Amino acid sequence: MQENTKNTKPASQNSLNRRFSIAPMLDWTTSDYRVFARALTKETLLYTEMVTTGALLKGDNPERFLRFEDVEHPIALQLGGSDAKALAQCAKLAESFGYDEVNLNAGCPSDKVQHSLIGAILMAHPEKVKDAMKAMQDACSIPVTLKHRIGLDDQQEYSIVRDFIGDVATTGTNTFIVHARNAILAGLSPKQNREVPPLKYDYVYRLKQDFPDLEIIINGGIKTLDECEQHLNHVDGVMVGREAYNNPWILSQVDSRLFDQTDQVTDRIQALLNFVPFVEQRLNNGERLSHLTRHIMGIFLGQPGGKQFRRYLSEQGHKKDASIDVLKQAIDLVIEQLTRAKEIKNEQ
Ligand SMILES: Cc1cc2nc3c(=O)[nH]c(=O)nc-3n(C[C@H](O)[C@H](O)[C@H](O)COP(=O)(O)O)c2cc1C
Repeated sequence: MQENTKNTKPASQNSLNRRFSIAPMLDWTTSDYRVFARALTKETLLYTEMVTTGALLKGDNPERFLRFEDVEHPIALQLGGSDAKALAQCAKLAESFGYDEVNLNAGCPSDKVQHSLIGAILMAHPEKVKDAMKAMQDACSIPVTLKHRIGLDDQQEYSIVRDFIGDVATTGTNTFIVHARNAILAGLSPKQNREVPPLKYDYVYRLKQDFPDLEIIINGGIKTLDECEQHLNHVDGVMVGREAYNNPWILSQVDSRLFDQTDQVTDRIQALLNFVPFVEQRLNNGERLSHLTRHIMGIFLGQPGGKQFRRYLSEQGHKKDASIDVLKQAIDLVIEQLTRAKEIKNEQ
C-alpha cells in the first residue's frame, strides 16, 4: 500500500475550500440534488449521502453509488464503516472516481447502523477511528476528513470532544466537521437526534482555540448566511444541512458572501431554467420526473406562487409518464403569479 501521511501529501491535499459546505444527507443529497445546488452555488463543497463500505464492496457495481456529474466538483464522498481495511479500499475507490475528499461518518446515531459500528458509536471507539483514518490516508492522496458529534449520551464535558479530536489528530487527520450536539444512541430517532440534544457552539469554538492548526468546521441548526458569517469569526468553515435542502435559495448568495466570488444567478426562475436541461437529460435516461423535482420543492419558499408550484409538481409530477412539460408549466404558473403580484403592487 502506498506510503502516505499528512506531511507527505501533495499541496492539493489541503487546497479544498471548506468555508461553506452542504451536509451529507441520506436520500436528500443525491446526485440530482447536487446538480441543482450547483445551479445556485459554484464554490460550495458538496457531500454525498453516506455510502457504507458494505454497499460499495459487496456489490459488483460500485459505480451505481459513486458516479457523479463533473459539475458537482468540489465533491466529497461520505463513507460509513469501521473496518480499516474496507474503508481504505473505499477511499481508494473514491479517489479513482475523482472525488475531491473522502469523509468518515462518526456522527450518525441511527440504531440501524450501530450494531455494525457505523456512525456516532465510533466515538466510543477512538482506536478504531484512528486505525480507519490512518488506513484511509495511506490508501489515497485526497483529503480524508471526519464528521462527528461533541459527545455520546449523557457525556456533557467539553473534554470529551477535545480529547477525541486530540487523539484522532495524531493520525494526521486535520479536518474535523463537528455537529455541535451529542448523539443519544438509545431512545431517540435520528430525526430527534438532530433536534433534541442541545447545540453547544461554544464547544466547537473552543476546539478551534485549543487546536489552531486543525481545520474545524461547525455544523448543526444553522439557517442563515448571517449566522454563517458569525460562525466564521470563530471556526474555519460552516456546514449546513436541512436549510440548504428545504430552502435552497439561501445557496444563491453563498459564492459572493462567503467566497468573495460572483453569484451564479440572481433569480429563482433563472436557477430553475438552468436546471431544466439536466432534468430533460435524466428523464431521457429513464428517471422519473418526481425523483428529480422533489429536490426543488423549496425553491420558492415564502414567495408568491410557491404553493402553487409545489402543488402542481406534487399532483402532476408523480405520474409515470410525466414529462419536462410538467416542470415548465409549474415554472409558468409562478411567473404568472409573480406578474400578478407586481401588477397589484403597482396599482397600490
Ligand atoms: C434527511 C437527513 C439525512 C441525513 N443523513 C446523513 C448522513 O448520511 N451522514 C451524516 O453524516 N449525516 C447525515 N445527516 C445529518 C446532517 O449531515 C447534519 O449533520 C444535521 O442535519 C445537522 O445539520 P443541519 O442542522 O444544518 O441540518 C442527515 C440529516 C438529514 C436531515
